[in-house]
Amino acid sequence: LKFTCLTLFPELIESWSKTGLVGGAIKKNLLTIETLNPRKFTSDIHQSVDDTVYGGSDGMVLKFEPLAKAIESLGPAHVVFLTPQGTPWTHAKAQEFVHHSNIVLVCGRYAGFDQRLIETFADDEISIGDYILNGGEVAALAVMESVARLIPGVLGNKQSVVRESFAEGLLEAPAFTRPREVNGMPVPSPLLSGNHALIAQFEHDVALVRTRVRRPELLTGEQAAEAVKSAERLKFLSSSELKALGLRLEDL
Ligand SMILES: C[S@@+](CC[C@H](N)C(=O)[O-])C[C@H]1O[C@@H](n2cnc3c(N)ncnc32)[C@H](O)[C@@H]1O
Repeated sequence: LKFTCLTLFPELIESWSKTGLVGGAIKKNLLTIETLNPRKFTSDIHQSVDDTVYGGSDGMVLKFEPLAKAIESLGPAHVVFLTPQGTPWTHAKAQEFVHHSNIVLVCGRYAGFDQRLIETFADDEISIGDYILNGGEVAALAVMESVARLIPGVLGNKQSVVRESFAEGLLEAPAFTRPREVNGMPVPSPLLSGNHALIAQFEHDVALVRTRVRRPELLTGEQAAEAVKSAERLKFLSSSELKALGLRLEDL
C-alpha cells in the first residue's frame, strides 16, 4: 500500500513516518509513504498556491491549478481530500482503505480548498472529527496510522488487531499488569484463573457492558440484548473488582 501526501509541509509527514511501527513497516516494505509539495507545480516567482476568497471573506484559499497538476502527476489512485466537512473517519473506513494499493491524501491549509478541486478529483472526503485543525496533515497522519496497523505484518501480534476496540464493533475490555492490587483495586479474579475459555467469556462480557455504558450507539440490537445477559453474568464481581474495570454496580 502506498500513500502519497500532497502537502505544503512535507516535513510533518516525513518525521512521523520514520518512527515506531510505521517506520518499521516502511523498512519491511509493507508500506510506502511519499510526499509531494504542490508548490512544485506553480509557475510564478513566489510559488503561490493560495489566493484571496471571492465574495470578500477573510483568508486565503488553495488555488485549483497547482493542486490539480500535482494530483494529475500522480496517475491513477484513490484520491482523498481531508476536510472537516467530510465523512467521519472510523475503523470501518480504515478497513476499507487497506484494500487500496495507491492512496493520495490531499492536505488543505488556510481557509481550505477551492471547492472545484474536490468536485473534480475527490473519490473520498474524510473528516477526523467535528473540530477545526490548521491543516490536513494531522488528519492524514491519523488516517495513515490507523490503516497501517491493519496491514498484515505491521503489528507483531496478529491478535492485537482482532481484539482491539472497534474491530468487532465493541470497545475492548480493560487490561491489567502487575501488581495484582493497586489502591484497593484488585485484578478481577477471572483473569487470574488460567482458564482461557473463562477469560475469553469474561472479557467479552466486560467489552459488551463497557460498550453499553460508554458508547451504546455502537451496539446492534442483538448485541444490546447480549449485553443484558453479560451484565447478569458479571454480578458476582466485588465492587472493588468492578471499580478496577471502570464499572459501577449500577452499570450491571
Ligand atoms: C482551517 S481548515 C479550513 C476549514 C474550512 N474553512 C471550513 O470551515 O470547513 C484548513 C484545512 O485543515 C484541514 N482540516 C481541518 N479540520 C479538519 C478535520 N476535522 N478533519 C480533516 N481535515 C481537517 C483541511 O484540510 C482544511 O482544508
